[in-house]
Amino acid sequence: MKGIRSILIALGLFAFACSSASAYDPSPLQDFCVAIKDIKNGVFVNGKFCKDPKLAVAEDFFFSGLNRPGNTSNPVGSNVTMINVDIIPGLNTLGISLVRIDYAPYGVNPPHTHPRGSEILLVVEGTLYVGFVTANPDNRLFTKILNPGDVFVFPFGMVHFQFNIGKTAAVAFAGLSSQNAGVITIANAVFGSNPPINPDVLAKAFQLNKNVVKYLQSRF
Ligand SMILES: *[C@@H]1O[C@H](CO)[C@@H](O)[C@H](O)[C@H]1NC(C)=O
Ligand SMILES: *[C@@H]1O[C@H](CO)[C@@H](O)[C@H](O)[C@H]1NC(C)=O
Repeated sequence: MKGIRSILIALGLFAFACSSASAYDPSPLQDFCVAIKDIKNGVFVNGKFCKDPKLAVAEDFFFSGLNRPGNTSNPVGSNVTMINVDIIPGLNTLGISLVRIDYAPYGVNPPHTHPRGSEILLVVEGTLYVGFVTANPDNRLFTKILNPGDVFVFPFGMVHFQFNIGKTAAVAFAGLSSQNAGVITIANAVFGSNPPINPDVLAKAFQLNKNVVKYLQSRF
């Protein structure tokens, strides 16, 4: 009787552990898999083709130039320089990448999501108001004002943004948990799709007048 009870308790604990903890991490099947850059019309694989490891060189793991600011003379006043597997082929299968983000005074990196990665951001210059919003139904907003040396995390898939609230340029660097995290900028996807989404859909969805929708569509 006592034996059965302890087995049931153990099973219960196991079920609890399974229900409350689930996670995954990329796990390469070899030391590295330097992507081959010049295969254009190959078959599609989940990732990139690998170079023969014996032919790998230090340059496959190297990039120079992230000290240079991106050009922020655009409507949003920000510029993301992405150092992913397309730039450093040695990132293939490693599950990480890096970005530099430049912000003009009052520039914004508009609300967007990365379909394949979490992000950890470090401010090195300026002052940013940053935030992310959780999934439905709560849509809870987490925000923070960041100064140089401050770090903030944007969890996997959450819609997030950064806004330069200072009078000077701002600079941040961020690590992403994917070799190619992807970006979906909400406004561009919704109002700037190609071809455009039927304005009736957006008028209803956003509770807007159709002319406002058409105006927004003309802006993206
Ligand atoms: C970002 O900056 C680079 C380098 O100055 C520039 O080539 C690129 O067009 C800029 N992108 C945007 C969206 O402004
Ligand atoms: C930045 O981009 C703007 C708009 O495209 C362009 O006029 C300007 O020359 C660029 N500045 C630099 C430093 O490349």
